[in-house]
Formats: sequence, C-alpha cells, structure tokens
Amino acid sequence: MSQPTLDNIVSLCRRRGFIFQSSEIYGGLNGAYDYGPMGVLLKNNIRDLWWREMTFMHDNIVGLDASILMASKVWEASGHVSNFSDPMVDCKQCKSRFRADQIDLNGACPVCGNKGTFTAPRNFNLMFATHIGPDMDSASVVYLRPETAQGIYTEYKNVVSSSRVKIPFGIAQVGKSFRNEITTKNFIFRSCEFEQMEMQFFCKPNTDEKWFEFWRAERMKFYIEKMGIPAETLRWHRHGADELAFYAKDAYDIQFLFPMGWQELEGVHNRTDYDLTQHQKFSGKDLTYLEAENNERYIPYIVETSAGLTRNVLMALSSAYDVEKLEDGEERTVLHFHPNIAPVTVAVLPLVKKDGLDVKAKELEMSLREDFYAEYDQSGAIGRRYRRQDEIGTPYCITVDYRTLEDNTVTLRFRDSMKQERISTTNLSSTIKSFIKNYKRGQ
Ligand code: GAP
Repeated sequence: MSQPTLDNIVSLCRRRGFIFQSSEIYGGLNGAYDYGPMGVLLKNNIRDLWWREMTFMHDNIVGLDASILMASKVWEASGHVSNFSDPMVDCKQCKSRFRADQIDLNGACPVCGNKGTFTAPRNFNLMFATHIGPDMDSASVVYLRPETAQGIYTEYKNVVSSSRVKIPFGIAQVGKSFRNEITTKNFIFRSCEFEQMEMQFFCKPNTDEKWFEFWRAERMKFYIEKMGIPAETLRWHRHGADELAFYAKDAYDIQFLFPMGWQELEGVHNRTDYDLTQHQKFSGKDLTYLEAENNERYIPYIVETSAGLTRNVLMALSSAYDVEKLEDGEERTVLHFHPNIAPVTVAVLPLVKKDGLDVKAKELEMSLREDFYAEYDQSGAIGRRYRRQDEIGTPYCITVDYRTLEDNTVTLRFRDSMKQERISTTNLSSTIKSFIKNYKRGQ
C-alpha cells in the first residue's frame, strides 16, 4: 500500500470525474468545488450511509432539513456574530493573507520569504453575509449558515410537539454550510462551501456524560465497520483547555491520517444546555422540555456529533487510493472503496461487442440497476476496461462471454484481489449483496 499525496488525489479526481474546481473556465474560484458524475455518487453514498445509520438504525433519531438562511438573531444568540472569527494577518510585502494562528508571526512570510512584514492580527468573521429584500441596510442582513446545528436547536420544540420523540432523542441533518475561510488550501479539506452531517442528541442533565461516551463509540465504529476505514488511520484527539469552546464540557475530534497529516474529520461535543439556554434568552420563548411522566421541566443537554461530508469524501479517496505493482510489471491505480460507498457497485462488460454478448450484458446491467448503481462498458480491450473500473473503485465486474449464452453463468472479478469466479446469473443481485455484506479489504 502506498500513501498518496494530495496531488495524486486531485489529479485522479479530475481525470475520472470526481471533483473539479468551481468556475474553472473563468480561472477557478478558491474554496469552491464541483462534484462530477463519480464524485456525486460517492458523496451521496456516504451521506446515505450516515443517514441510514442515524435515522434507520436508531429508533430515537428523526431527521430535519432546515433552511440555509435563518433569522440573524439566531447567530447573535449562538455567539457566531460576536465570536466566530479567525485572527488574520497580511504580509505587507507580497500581500498574501494568512491565519495568524497557523504561522509564526516572528518568522519569514511563507510566500515571499521576507521577515517581520506581517500586519498586526485582526479578527475576521467567517460568516458570509447577504441581504433579504431590496434594501441593503443593516436591518436586512442575513447570514449563510456556518453550521447546520442551529437549525436543529431552533426547531427542536416543533419536532417534539409534532412527532412522538421523547428524551433521550436525536435530530439528524445533512446540508450545506458556508464559511469565509482565510486559507482554503488542501483541496476539499477546508472549503468555503461544504456539507455537514450533524446529529444533536437531546438528553436529561446528568445523563450527558453517559451519552457522550455512547456517541463517541458509535461514531468510531461507523467509520471502521460501515465505511471500511482502517482503524490505524483513525484516532481520538481530546480538546485541551486552550481548544475547548467556552460552553463545551468536553470535546473530542475523530482525526484521520490525511495525506497532509493527522487532521480533524468529525467533532463529538458535549454542548451542555448552552445552545437552548441562549435561544430561550434571545427569543423569549420557553424552550424547556416537559417530562410528562413526572411533570419535571428542564432545558435538555446536547451531545453533538458533527462530521464534514465533503471532508469525508476526501478521507474516503485518501484511504482508498493505491498504486500497485502487478506481476507483469505493469502498475494499476486502484481505489479500494468499501462497496457501501463505491460510486459504481458493479460494472457489466461483454467480452466482445457482437454475437449477442452485448445485448445479454446490457440486459443484465438493466436488471442489476434495480438494486445497485451499475455501469455498462463495451469499449476497448477487457483488461483496459478492468483498469478503468479499478480507478473509479468499482468492487465487482461481471463479464459476459460465449459460455453465458449457453449456461447463464458469468465471470465475477473482484477489484481488490483481481480474482475471478464463475457464478450463475440466477439471483445475481443476492449474490452481490452477500459479497458486499462480507466485504473485507483485499479480498
Ligand atoms: N456544529 C459544530 C461544528 O460545526 P466544527 O468543528 O466547526 O463544528 C464540524 O465543524 C465539522 O465540519 C468538522 O469536523 C469538519 O469535518 C467540517 N468542516 C468545518 N469547516 C469546514 C470547511 N471549511 N470545509 C470543509 N469541512 C469543514
């Protein structure tokens, strides 16, 4: 296994239609990316896997899709208007801009090399502001949400009164968030427009520590078992006193070993009753929860699991990428995605595109599409077609040959081991499902 560089991943993403720079024909827009045909499949698969895990597999978690634009008061209450900022400095010589906490202010400028040229740090709010309505005055200012969490807090009472959830329960949401990041290097790791998968778990005070530990364990298990990320490339980082948000009781990041080193993938936070207390104060509405059984009233504590969906895409690509030396001296680039998230689950290839093999293969592809995202490919030598599927991470290739026409069997080729097996086309979907269920990287 070889550890890829970020450049390896960027170029594969472009070549195979995973991710492109936004507005490329106009020179590109920093911090914004477009997901191509393979990228959108991969991203949606990760999103759906997370959504299933949260809302199908836990009977006390419901979903929400809140709007991106929210009343400005929300962000005053949450503290984002006054506190959500990064310290920024400029190099007076070359005008490059940096986050003051990411460079040595007494050292040389990382771009032009001049020393002692930085401006004094000044705080820069990361929220994108715009206006609602035709008047561009301060009364019409609204922000693009910098996190999806606040939509959950402001809707929690509506969810409680309109559904049957009872504490302890969770509300899950996936959606776009926006941050005017000062530095947007490292591809999609840190972008201005990104997606988050957040779940806020509402629990009774004094049970928060227990739920915090529960969710920490669940989230790590999800990455290893459902997404197939090797355990040794994941680790916990507990926030020290200098990192902990002032309202948080405890916070851990799940870090992944990205090509540029260990970096945050997801945060699990014990946010106490801070958020709901703030919204109760700023909105003047009663945000307490009533336990009907004993008439007890309290503001729930919240344990948050907050993952970047687009950052998960970068993890999936980095974790899957490999260049292998083959026995014949050739190299193959392969993405070892877990079949749960692979953009294409199965490719159907006729050995040759004549004598009815193409017709049979097309027929099989269309029937497999009932259950999986399947692709048909008839162009080029079979070996080249396998390589292309390896490069987009398709775990299973099915080849239709002359024998298929006689006995309805096909060759199933496994991406990781490149081993081939003869299998029947009867119950083909179930056969593939059982391979997916028992998948282990390398097989
Ligand atoms: N509601 C809590 C919250 O938003 P955060 O640590 O600021 O916490 C959570 O963000 C996750 O969102 C991060 O772990 C990361 O995966 C993702 N994320 C944050 N900023 C991002 C950015 N600029 N680009 C891509 N992903 C980002």
